[in-house]
Amino acid sequence: MTLQVNGLEHQLRLDNRTTLLDTLREHLELTGAKKGCDQGQCGACTVLLDGRRVVSCLILACSADGKAVTTVEGLSAGQGLHPIQEAFIAHDALQCGFCTPGQICSAVGLTSEETESPAAIREAMSGNICRCGAYTHITDAVYEVAGAL
Ligand code: FES
Ligand code: FES
Repeated sequence: MTLQVNGLEHQLRLDNRTTLLDTLREHLELTGAKKGCDQGQCGACTVLLDGRRVVSCLILACSADGKAVTTVEGLSAGQGLHPIQEAFIAHDALQCGFCTPGQICSAVGLTSEETESPAAIREAMSGNICRCGAYTHITDAVYEVAGAL
């Protein structure tokens, strides 16, 4: 199969049961997407598939054949960070950081969705769990950037 990840094309030969998350982490050495629950419940593995956010632990790699996958490693264009990444730093929107790549990918994906208020952002981000409880700062960071993208 051919997987396009962060603008690069990869030819892969995989067991057809391999998830997109395992493919990224184990075969392409892109460990930004995290394996939390491996059951679609926590959002730690969130990546963008053709621009839409998905939990990569529930997606088979073969179903992403020919589609564009973007992970947290591929968000910044050029040398700087993505505005959402900058906002996470500015708002101190993380503690341990385990959920952060998923939160950031989810935030980038939702900028084309409902973002008109902090409440809408909280609802749209509710699939991304943060054990550290950094939700208030995460919402502030996303709300600051969402309108500007
Ligand atoms: S690891 Fe995919 S949703 Fe938790
Ligand atoms: S920052 Fe620790 S789980 Fe979210």
